[in-house]
Amino acid sequence: MVIGIVSQKGGVGKTTLAQNLGAELSGAGQRVLLVDFDPKGNLAIGWGVDPSSAQHTICTGLSDPTKTAEAIVRLRPKLDLILANETLHVAEPNLLRNALETVRQDYDLVLIDGPPSLDLLTDNVVVASDHLLIPLQAHPFSYRAVDQFISRLARRGNRAAKSKTAKKSFSIILMMIDQRNALTRAIEHSARERYGPSVFKTKIPLNVAIAEAPLRGLPVGEYERMSKGAKAFRALAKEFKKM
Ligand SMILES: Nc1ncnc2c1ncn2[C@@H]1O[C@H](COP(=O)(O)OP(=O)(O)O)[C@@H](O)[C@H]1O
Ligand SMILES: [Mg+2]
Repeated sequence: MVIGIVSQKGGVGKTTLAQNLGAELSGAGQRVLLVDFDPKGNLAIGWGVDPSSAQHTICTGLSDPTKTAEAIVRLRPKLDLILANETLHVAEPNLLRNALETVRQDYDLVLIDGPPSLDLLTDNVVVASDHLLIPLQAHPFSYRAVDQFISRLARRGNRAAKSKTAKKSFSIILMMIDQRNALTRAIEHSARERYGPSVFKTKIPLNVAIAEAPLRGLPVGEYERMSKGAKAFRALAKEFKKM
């Protein structure tokens, strides 16, 4: 299964979700491939890997899908990563799907960390994915971003219906939740009302350990195992497996 993490808004928690959900699921025994698809390369940096001078990145597979495997970096026994850096660019929407076709059968899950844009890069993530995860940061603008993204997906679905590509399903994950904040609670309430069962029950709290962990090159579960953030990602992984 290929899952894309998407939102045109930066700073909503896409990379954090990719790193920590991937770490938890591989820790639970799944073979996971993380794919960075943001030219900023933050996912690699969060694992303590510098993508800037890497010989192979996802571009290797975009230009020749038979070579995608050459770009795979081993992070943990069941956890691999393909890097991205500022050289990432695409000219058509099917390139990422083609690049992953040659490696996806080696994994239970491929998790793509998307860019903060609504352009051809994001179209590549959508086309390559079987299902999308949209982080909803509990902030009014982020809520609008989710609405925009979903209506764009629906329009895309209408066009795709004619070309026989299925409309993409999606789930929403509430990120950076501060329970003491009334605005946060209001946004959570309206998201659950509007999107119902598409919203994960587990929500990720605002938690300093989550922000500190990537500065040490670690997922929060390895950085501070008993933090609120680590517990939340363990719960999220459990709920995800039942999806
Ligand atoms: N639940 C959280 N609690 C505290 N800080 C968080 C949390 N989630 C993300 N962050 C921090 O917020 C910033 C933006 O998150 P990031 O995952 O990079 O967003 P995006 O990939 O959507 O741009 C990062 O510095 C990250 O460490
Ligand atoms: Mg990111």
